[in-house]
Amino acid sequence: MTATTDRADTPSAVPADQIPCITLDPHGTDHHGEAERMRAAGTVVRVLLPDGVPAWTITRTEPLLEVLNHPDISKNWHNWTCARNGDIPDDWSLTGMLKVTNMVTADGAAHQRLRRPVTRTLTARRLQEIRPRIANLINDVVDALPAHADADGVVDLRQHFAYPIPMAVICELVGVPAAKRPQLRRLVESIFRSTTSAEEVVQTQADIDQVLGEIIQLRQDRPGPDLTSDLIALRQNDPEALTDEELAGTLWVMIAAGHETTVSLLLNAIRALLTHPDQLITVRRRAADDPDDAWAAVVEETLRYDAPIGNFMARYPLTDITVAGVTIPAGDAILAPYSLLGRDPDQYGADAQLFNPSRANMRHLAFGSGPHACPGAGLARMEATLALRALFNRYPDMYLASGGDLAPVPSLFSNSVQSLPVIVTTRPDTASSSAASPNIA
Ligand code: HEM
Repeated sequence: MTATTDRADTPSAVPADQIPCITLDPHGTDHHGEAERMRAAGTVVRVLLPDGVPAWTITRTEPLLEVLNHPDISKNWHNWTCARNGDIPDDWSLTGMLKVTNMVTADGAAHQRLRRPVTRTLTARRLQEIRPRIANLINDVVDALPAHADADGVVDLRQHFAYPIPMAVICELVGVPAAKRPQLRRLVESIFRSTTSAEEVVQTQADIDQVLGEIIQLRQDRPGPDLTSDLIALRQNDPEALTDEELAGTLWVMIAAGHETTVSLLLNAIRALLTHPDQLITVRRRAADDPDDAWAAVVEETLRYDAPIGNFMARYPLTDITVAGVTIPAGDAILAPYSLLGRDPDQYGADAQLFNPSRANMRHLAFGSGPHACPGAGLARMEATLALRALFNRYPDMYLASGGDLAPVPSLFSNSVQSLPVIVTTRPDTASSSAASPNIA
């Protein structure tokens, strides 16, 4: 396969109107089926976003890697021709994911300036320091699950397990008081949804601005050992460090990216294990020898097999480029279809569609690549490894309350389910108290 990103004057470039075009379903009804159709359509495919907004997607790993690392490709939406032409109104359903001011949409020096304070917050040393706190938090959440069961003994793991753990962790890191978390959750869910009405898009943006302003004011008045206080102090020492809008934008991307993705990772892993009981038995067998290794393998295989991020928005070439023989004009939008790549048979072989935490090759692109690769990958891996291990140790007989056919999150970005109903049954000998942290030995 040719996997080059060249200038448009490459003689073999295929005209855009000869490239297949697929309309993406904002409801996410058949996420992996749609990904299969895109893969079958070619290496470089045209797609239509809601309201017929055009974009491109790259369905093979090597060409996408070149795009993600290409020096002439911007993440700044001001370089998107559609946005410049006024074709993307502020109340468009995807606006909240695209027209933002933070490191996700910054290039070069501005990107490094905005990203640096965040990577300093998420060093390996810092993660080791907060690990015991995260383990205790997880044990409390796991212990409380039976209390959330309805009259039929059913507990929704999205609501009571997958959401509270990453939300509490990221809010403690960022400095968000507990009282603000339910509102932030609603706003983040609204942003990730691709079917949002124009009224809701506008209201959500206003509410985000307001709640972030309140958090910044609170930390200005009462600084703490958190990212918001660090960023405020940074600005006091160096007024050029970041603007008001960039400060709010940084907090927002941390809160949003820092929990919604990990929620999906936890749900996708639990669902995969409960629908593949043979694999769960193998994981348990491996965990008896080396629990860290066994649960880390589950996390990596889930990131490959069912990546939390579907189609990430967006990159804009600054000059016409040719990718695998197809010319993408300057100013068009290119998506990164991370969940599609995880099931690429060219990378993972004929059994790419199967969940197998013992497979040899689990290298994946679920955290992206290049200058914008996820700075929270270490934290997400740690949280998910600890949380899955605690859950499956504590409730070894847990099973899905539905047949596994669950409503997807209506989103082009988020690949997960809206709820995960399970029955948790407790064996007396596995009961725990969070003080001793026995779930995470
Ligand atoms: C399973 C969990 C996670 C997944 C799958 C994930 C995935 C990703 C991906 C694919 C990107 C790069 C997108 C691109 O530009 O193409 C990204 C960026 C980012 N992620 Fe994560 N992420 C996760 C967890 C986290 C956590 C826990 C945090 C915060 C603590 C975080 C913070 C960020 C930030 C700030 C960026 C923007 C980086 C930049 O543009 O330079 N993520 N994430």
